[in-house]
Amino acid sequence: MDSTIVSRMPLIGDKAPAFKAVTTQGPINFPEDYVGKWVILFSHPADFTPVCTTEFMTFASMADDFKALNTELVGLSIDSLYAHIAWLRRIQELEWNGLKNIEVKFPLIEDIKMEVAHLYGMVQPGQSTTQAVRAVFFIDPEATIRTILFYPASLGRNFDEIKRIIQGLQKADREKIATPANWKPGQDVIVPPPGSCGVAKARMEDKSEDKYCLDWFLCFKREKK
Ligand code: BEZ
Repeated sequence: MDSTIVSRMPLIGDKAPAFKAVTTQGPINFPEDYVGKWVILFSHPADFTPVCTTEFMTFASMADDFKALNTELVGLSIDSLYAHIAWLRRIQELEWNGLKNIEVKFPLIEDIKMEVAHLYGMVQPGQSTTQAVRAVFFIDPEATIRTILFYPASLGRNFDEIKRIIQGLQKADREKIATPANWKPGQDVIVPPPGSCGVAKARMEDKSEDKYCLDWFLCFKREKK
C-alpha cells in the first residue's frame, strides 16, 4: 500500500484545518481558542533572516490595529521554540524604519516537524522543501478561509494591504457590498450585481442620493463623508 500522505491545500471557502501547536505564547488549539475572532495565520521562511525580521517588526508594530479589528495574528516557521524566543528577543533590541523596542506579543508556532506547514500548503517544494513560503491565511470567526496570499522568500509583504484585506472582508460581511479596485476604508463601495431584469431596471431608475450607477451592472453606494 502506498503510504504517501496526500493532503490538499485548503482553499478559499474551506474550513481552516484544525491543529494543536506549541508557540512562543504557550500552546494553542486552533480554531477552538479563536472562536468569534478573525485570525491571520502566516508563515515566514526562517528566524534570523533579514526580510522576515523587517516583517515581524512591522506586523508587531500594527498589533493594536489588528486587535481593534477583532483580529488575532498567529505566525509560523519551521524553526524551534528556542530559535523563535532568541530571535524575538533580538528583534526587540533592533531599530529600523522608525520602529524600535518592538515586542512581538502574538504567538509564533514552533513547526520543526512541518506538520502545520504541510496542512496549509506552506511548504512549496519549487522554492524550498525545508522552509515555508510567505503564506497568509485570512480566517473568519466561523473558521472559514476567506483569502490566501503567497509570496516568495525574497519579497517582503505589504502589511497595509493585509490590514486592508481584513477591513474589506469585514465590511463586505457587514454591509453585503463588494469593494472596487484599490478600495480604501472611507471610499465608495459596490452594490452587488442585480439578479433579474426587474432589479436592473429599478436600479437605473433609483434616484436616491446614497447610490449612483455607471450602468445597470455597475452601481456604487456612497460612503458618508
Ligand atoms: C529573508 O527573510 O530575508 C529570507 C529568508 C529566506 C530566504 C531568503 C530571504
